[in-house]
Amino acid sequence: MTTSDPPPPPESAAPSTPSPASAGEPRPARRTVTLAVVVGSCAIAAATAIPAAAFVAAPIGSKGGGGRWVRTLRVDQLVDGEPKRVAIVDDRRDAWTIERGVELGSVWVVKHGAKVSAFSSVCPHLGCSVNLAPEAGGGFACPCHTSAFDADGKRKSGPSPRDLDALATRIEDGFVAVEFRRFRIGVPEKVET
Ligand code: FES
Repeated sequence: MTTSDPPPPPESAAPSTPSPASAGEPRPARRTVTLAVVVGSCAIAAATAIPAAAFVAAPIGSKGGGGRWVRTLRVDQLVDGEPKRVAIVDDRRDAWTIERGVELGSVWVVKHGAKVSAFSSVCPHLGCSVNLAPEAGGGFACPCHTSAFDADGKRKSGPSPRDLDALATRIEDGFVAVEFRRFRIGVPEKVET
């Protein structure tokens, strides 16, 4: 090019033929379809993700409340009128985990003829474990602050604010099943925890 040549025309003045890049851009109608597909996909993903999250987040044993029926010893292992302490062994569940075969506590079981009764071994005063009290003519006694209970679990003396906590029983295939529950200590009412 010589100095006498006319300057080249500005690029904006060039004829507007579509460039390869602009040729590949979606047209408005195609954009609308693409947007609809994306929105629809998100909606489906959300609809399936919420139940999945609920399943994963649901804690084991989250129903809460109520006792649990646990089989203890055979009825024929009991001697009439002689309370026996038995361990309560069952699965322990919290919000997220489960442990198999854990000792959850103990109860006193006693048979009088065909009737089988059970009491929590937890003293209602401050939660110590009550023992038999043969020297007191039968019944139960707490070693911590000397609360005493008769053979039917009725409070006789001491600071315990209530009787021993009776538990429901039933016979299953010759075994004594106990409905194991825990109750608040230090209060006169029998309130399940
Ligand atoms: S804990 Fe039993 S009398 Fe206090």
